[in-house]
Amino acid sequence: MKKYFIGLDQGTTGTTTLILNDDWEIHSQGYVEHTQYYPQPGWVEHDALEIWEKTKESIGTALEKGNLRINEITAIGLDNQGETVVVWDRHTGIPVYNAIVWQDRRTAQEADKLNEEWGKVIKEKTGVLVESYFSALKIKWILDHVDGAREKAEKGDLLAGTIDTWLIWKMTNGRLHITDYSTASRTMLMNIHKGCWDDEILERLNIPKSMMAQIRPSCEHYGNTDPGSFLGGAIPIAGSVVDQQAALFGQACFEPGTVKTTYGTGCFMLMNTGEKIVDSKNGLLTTVAWNINDKTSFALDGGIYITGAAIQWLRDGINIIETAQETENLAKSVPDTGGVYFVPAFVGLAAPHWDPYARGTMVGITAGTTRAHIVRATLESIAYQVKENMDVMEKDSGINIKVMRVDGGPVVNDFLMQFQADLLGIPIDVPVITETTALGSAYLAALAIGEFNSLDEIASKWKLSKRYTPKITEEEREKLMTGWKRAVERSKNWTS
Ligand code: G3P
Repeated sequence: MKKYFIGLDQGTTGTTTLILNDDWEIHSQGYVEHTQYYPQPGWVEHDALEIWEKTKESIGTALEKGNLRINEITAIGLDNQGETVVVWDRHTGIPVYNAIVWQDRRTAQEADKLNEEWGKVIKEKTGVLVESYFSALKIKWILDHVDGAREKAEKGDLLAGTIDTWLIWKMTNGRLHITDYSTASRTMLMNIHKGCWDDEILERLNIPKSMMAQIRPSCEHYGNTDPGSFLGGAIPIAGSVVDQQAALFGQACFEPGTVKTTYGTGCFMLMNTGEKIVDSKNGLLTTVAWNINDKTSFALDGGIYITGAAIQWLRDGINIIETAQETENLAKSVPDTGGVYFVPAFVGLAAPHWDPYARGTMVGITAGTTRAHIVRATLESIAYQVKENMDVMEKDSGINIKVMRVDGGPVVNDFLMQFQADLLGIPIDVPVITETTALGSAYLAALAIGEFNSLDEIASKWKLSKRYTPKITEEEREKLMTGWKRAVERSKNWTS
């Protein structure tokens, strides 16, 4: 009898379900978007109950399309959008406030203050910078601003969690309050050296430890879903990992020095550094890749907030394109951007600059600038940001990156991929399955229940679809990068 695995990717804009058969082909899939709330400039929220409903809908769609019943699923692995955090009442299961999303900047000033006083210690303990990006200050904000929340939390009535924790709690009808090491490493609350919540940071931020989930391996049969709350099935939940790390796993980047970049709303480049914790001197983060069989692997992380979201802005914000697909031909219709650079720092700049006060900037416009130039400059901005991160990653790790594996929707854009290879000066490999995030979480679940015996077995499933090789000279590359760096400087420190 065939076996089927679910890889569930709960992302920022929507929830993807991949159902994979035991030949590791996609059997069917589902995708459902959820609402984005922007209550104030710089604030981004999700309704956690809506995410739970949409998760079930996404799985339901994939089951229906694949003509499967939930009980035919062997195991579920899930990944989550990372730093986004929910606080809910443990008795009623109702969130006390909307989920505060990773992109949300409401705690930027508080982060500045904490950074001045304690930034070095926090970076040393957690591997990440003091930034509004991470979960810690978002939890604190909820406790400080929601009526009665702090008292309830102190009495032990509230639970906190990233979206993995929330979904697993809901899937098991409140039986499991867990997270994994990789997601915990995105909170700014886990000591990555010890692999536990850091009491000193919790105390300093006044976050009761009783709210925090138990930290577990990324690959383990945690328990079964509760049929009463989860589509009528008791299915093993056997893998959980944060989304970028799921993609690293799905890309079979198991060897130290291997790198993947996922192109989505933002762009996230991760290098597996094995059991070594590499401390970045140049604006990258140190993060847990995964924990398997009680062994933790680490990664260097170069995250960029806005890449695909800039294309969305061309379409929905200023309406100069109708579909993302048309950007490819529009960009190719001009030989270059005519000197235009666009830095899409809509919510500030992440790695390697870390400036929450930077804002979107377009420079070099002349009367001859056309829509095609602007579209091309937008696509190019994605590649420039990735190149900046690759440069610092090589510096921090002391490793020359030989090839970059890429995934996510925008990798179908031939112009973007070629320009990316040109800028990086190394080949770019696109795999056959580009939904590597959901794939990675399904692999982890399959590994946990013994479907695979080794990581090598998983690596043998990785298949190349297309390789892009660089076609420009070092001199041309340098010239392009010099212009980009000047543009980035102009975008910095714009608001406060
Ligand atoms: O750190 C946030 C990032 O992992 C979110 O990715 O795909 O949900 O936009 P995505």
